[in-house]
Amino acid sequence: MSELQQKIEQVISILTEAIHDYTPVTFANSLGAEDMVLTDLINRYKLDIDMFSLDTGRLPQETYDLMQTVREHFNKPLRIYFPNVKQVEEYVAKNGVNGFRESVELRKGCCHVRKVEPLRRALFGKRAWVTGVRHEQATTRISLKVSAYDMSNRMQKINPLIDWSNEEIWEYIRQYKVPYNKLHDSFYPSIGCAPCTRAVTPGEDIRSGRWWWETPETKECGLHTDNVIPLK
Ligand code: ADX
Repeated sequence: MSELQQKIEQVISILTEAIHDYTPVTFANSLGAEDMVLTDLINRYKLDIDMFSLDTGRLPQETYDLMQTVREHFNKPLRIYFPNVKQVEEYVAKNGVNGFRESVELRKGCCHVRKVEPLRRALFGKRAWVTGVRHEQATTRISLKVSAYDMSNRMQKINPLIDWSNEEIWEYIRQYKVPYNKLHDSFYPSIGCAPCTRAVTPGEDIRSGRWWWETPETKECGLHTDNVIPLK
């Protein structure tokens, strides 16, 4: 069995166990390369896990194009959550439409309104959520576990690709002809909101194009910085 095949089987067994232990399970799908691997696996193996995307309102056009492709390509619906209108209006009135450039606090405030609050609604009623985070992605992600209790969201958080390398992600995408965000072909390894994402130069780390004016330790949007206590 190839190494990739072994990794695939591990993911399927992690997800099958999660379904057994924590149904209803949902998958937070950012449409990044890792999440496209998970989208394909969940669909290919007909796993009982639904999926959703947080549309912050500031995503790049290429991400919206992929959102539409996912709708046409896969059988499973992708639920889309928008930010709370009142909260966005208040943030913009107080800080300006590009207020997130002024400080880490204002940037995190924007992420909170556009991602963290909608995430709470998307997770409502679920017992576990699946994400595409990997150790290799960032210093802030080194201690994350494959399965751990997420204190902020009060449910189990499952990270089945935690030990996958970037090469393995792309080997899967090529082998199974999975659709992916066209920005990846233009040196965008990690994609978030349009104003907060730029291309990287060869040799720069994967997330250096995200919030590039900040230092690596602050570069999280609030979805994954929570107080995570390992259970397994
Ligand atoms: S993050 O800082 O933006 O959260 P990243 O883009 O590396 O980091 O995403 C990590 C994981 O968070 C994704 O694999 C996905 O599970 C979840 N996630 C991030 N952004 C979104 C989004 N817009 N919609 C749904 N899930 C998301």
